[in-house]
Amino acid sequence: MKTRVLTGITTTGTPHLGNYVGAIRPAVAASRRDDVDAFYFMADYHALIKSDDAARIERSRLEIAATWLAAGLDPQKVTFYRQSDIPEIPELTWFLTCVAAKGLLNRAHAYKAAVDKNSAAGEDADAGVTAGLYMYPVLMAADILAFNAHKVPVGRDQIQHVEMTRDIGQRFNHIYGREFFVLPEVVIEEQVATLPGLDGRKMSKSYDNTIPLFAGGQKHLRETIMRIVTDSRLPGEAKDPDSSSLFTIFRAFASEAESAAFRQALVDGLGWGEAKQVLFERIEVDVAPMRDSYDALIARPGVIEEILHEGAKKARAIAAPKMAELRDAIGLRSGASSTPSAAAKAAPKAGKLPRFASFRDGDGSFRFRLFSAEGEELLLSKSFADPKSAGALQKRIKELGAVAAVLQAQPLALALELDGEEVATTPTYGDEQARDEALARLRGALDQLAAQE
Ligand code: TRP
Repeated sequence: MKTRVLTGITTTGTPHLGNYVGAIRPAVAASRRDDVDAFYFMADYHALIKSDDAARIERSRLEIAATWLAAGLDPQKVTFYRQSDIPEIPELTWFLTCVAAKGLLNRAHAYKAAVDKNSAAGEDADAGVTAGLYMYPVLMAADILAFNAHKVPVGRDQIQHVEMTRDIGQRFNHIYGREFFVLPEVVIEEQVATLPGLDGRKMSKSYDNTIPLFAGGQKHLRETIMRIVTDSRLPGEAKDPDSSSLFTIFRAFASEAESAAFRQALVDGLGWGEAKQVLFERIEVDVAPMRDSYDALIARPGVIEEILHEGAKKARAIAAPKMAELRDAIGLRSGASSTPSAAAKAAPKAGKLPRFASFRDGDGSFRFRLFSAEGEELLLSKSFADPKSAGALQKRIKELGAVAAVLQAQPLALALELDGEEVATTPTYGDEQARDEALARLRGALDQLAAQE
């Protein structure tokens, strides 16, 4: 089974070199791995907590999407979407809100920092604090739990939020009696470089010391690099590479050999002006081709929109059946979308029931199909070495019924998961509507089986 890796990017800023080296580049590299099923999304609902500047949020969404795509994110391989395109996320946020302990949220760092600041200033503890800021961790929990993510790569400031996600997910699992949610693990990338900014402190928007990645083009990149603060050593004087931000930034882009050569040049007295030009040229080797794609994308927002729309479809194919399952479990079953167990119990006519059909595969292994009462093929099991194991799975499915089965949607098919393992799949359907309708029939059939038990 692939590891599902999920992370969100809050859409309030314009990506800078520090974001590229520290987050974008490693995330794009990770998304290419064959053992990873990556979910990357723009956390634009989270952005509303930090900013009420509509134009800035809109601009940032576009810039961040274009940046990730230009940096090599492959939307065919990765599920790349916008949080606000997934209505299941706010719905799940509410379900989780109703199990999250208020005391847990009181302890969230961002909220506590606001309260401490108010108290120090002699203000009311909650002055200027929105309920959005307070609920931030629950929205983030919904982002993660809706997709059963295994791993969540984040910066250190977000560790607590992932821990709260586990806490809230576990509480929900406990209250409703089974493992609805995978409890995610936080991943902190230790080896990735943190870049210094223009003034030598960590590059960060809040210090106003950033070097832009694409914004402003090549000319602006060069001008900004020329503003990096150095010591006052003159050309010809030996420089100390290890205390120079120029060298640290250079190393984040260059090979070992290039870095060694640059180090030697600095020790040999290369002037700071020339050193900045060398740094600029080295960054350009990597950035220039990406900038071309970035500019092309920004000029055609419709293309980005299309990509994100496809991403949202893929994401919703997973979140929608998950929400249907949760609604059932918490007592919000919708009559239209499923066959209620009560009805199934009331009218089990002989000969009109779903049935399993076992068979032996070409390679001698044992499998079975599940057919609906009307004879439609609903499921095909995985292969088993012996008929007993295949029978045991049939029994489990009967016992659990639809409520106990995790139904995970692939783009146009569904898979039955038990204990985190895929045990059977549906046929592939012609479109999403057909798939969703088949899901309803499958749930009905599973409930009928359970009712017979
Ligand atoms: N809060 C995260 C940040 O500011 C962004 C985010 C939102 C996120 N939802 C997420 C990260 C879910 C990981 C998983 O960095």
